[in-house]
Amino acid sequence: MRYRCDACGHDSAKWMGFCPRCGGPALVEARDGGSRPARSAASLVSLSEAAAAPVRHRPIGIGEIDRVLGGGLVPGAVLLLGGEPGVGKSTLLLQVAASLVDAGGTVLIAGAEESSDQVALRAARLGIDGSRLLLAAERDVDAIVAASAEVSPDLLVVDSIQAVAAREVGGTPGGVAQVRETAARLIHHAKDEGVPVVLVGHVTKDGGIAGPKVLEHAVDVVAYLEGDVELGLRVLRCLKNRFGATHQVGMFEMGDSGLTEVPDPSGWLLARWRGGQPGSVAFPAVDGRRPVLVEVQALVAGSGTPQPRRSVRGLEAARVHQVVAVLERHAGVSFAGKDIYVNVVGGLRIAEPAADLPVAVALVSSLQGAGLAPVAAWGEVGLTGEVRAVSHGERRAAEAARLGIGTVVGPAGNGDDRIDGALRRAGLSLGRPAVSLAGGSGVVPSPE
Ligand code: TYD
Ligand code: MG
Repeated sequence: MRYRCDACGHDSAKWMGFCPRCGGPALVEARDGGSRPARSAASLVSLSEAAAAPVRHRPIGIGEIDRVLGGGLVPGAVLLLGGEPGVGKSTLLLQVAASLVDAGGTVLIAGAEESSDQVALRAARLGIDGSRLLLAAERDVDAIVAASAEVSPDLLVVDSIQAVAAREVGGTPGGVAQVRETAARLIHHAKDEGVPVVLVGHVTKDGGIAGPKVLEHAVDVVAYLEGDVELGLRVLRCLKNRFGATHQVGMFEMGDSGLTEVPDPSGWLLARWRGGQPGSVAFPAVDGRRPVLVEVQALVAGSGTPQPRRSVRGLEAARVHQVVAVLERHAGVSFAGKDIYVNVVGGLRIAEPAADLPVAVALVSSLQGAGLAPVAAWGEVGLTGEVRAVSHGERRAAEAARLGIGTVVGPAGNGDDRIDGALRRAGLSLGRPAVSLAGGSGVVPSPE
């Protein structure tokens, strides 16, 4: 038996003395058993019918970006481009727009972050002129959608999602409620009209991401622009891609006329590397399909405070702390009373455990003040002091060889590689064995 409100039709499994929805009189027994009003059913397709059209990527014409996106833009797809303010998101997108316009396309750049004058000024700086590049300095998301529906551009850029708003929704622009709703309307527009849309989202400096994070699940592609502002290197990284592979990385150099592609990132980074310094090691990282040789730096210095500093940039701090602990326990070195700084040069972020060994080599080299011959190292360091094999060993070695790095230290491959042995192979001298060698096994027998 079900119950219903005579006034508003509210349906309930339980009798109540008033209607919880409209506040009307007591619910009455539903004579028809209270079955819910018939709804139109969702339309169904079989899998074989569904597996139809392959995704059509439309190349932007900038190789590094097309590669990261898996071929280019997809009609109706929404891309979220995140990054810190000033990293170069607007510049990158203006160049994307210019490339599409050059190929005969129409692009609409909308948003209230900059005036049309400011965009035009930057376009002039980049040497872009275009009558098919349309600008809308507009805060109202519905006005942007309406303008886009009118011109059906080959790309709609909304710069930034934090600076547009939906009128009827409360909350400040850039707040979670506004960001969700404005993005939802733009996503709807993209799907309805088949327009590719790029939403720009600012990420705050401390990594606490205000707007973009709440959108990652709702969009088709998530890319971040990161980088080292001093070096001028910018890294475009794809974290999610419904139409292609992720973990592709594109590299650019920010110069006077915008971003230029860096086709050989290893060579670019290495040209700025002064190998042979204490605390400096090359690490052939593998991102997506490409190896990229980055420099891992460590500085170990006497600490003036009772609580020594541990500062890590570009790597997972927890892994670096683990490497420090393994070195103390298994390589006979001590970082007690020392400040430790570890950094990946170029603003890249490395998540691979393969960076453990280069971090270890850099730390010990800095601790000892020992300049090394240029060394490339990779390998995962385990808690018991073993160095484990990692994937793509051959490609890492080949990349180091291509760039002429003579000393290469990877896991020995016999399944029995130890951290102290690996450090010695990198050219470091360690005093005594780390663990007193009982019975030659390297294991201290327990006292009982
Ligand atoms: P911008 O694209 O405005 O960053 P975002 O949109 O991510 O906030 O980039 C701003 C920075 O880039 C600014 O510091 C100036 C620098 N820049 C150059 O170095 N060269 C250039 O050609 C342009 C257009 C900008
Ligand atoms: Mg901008």
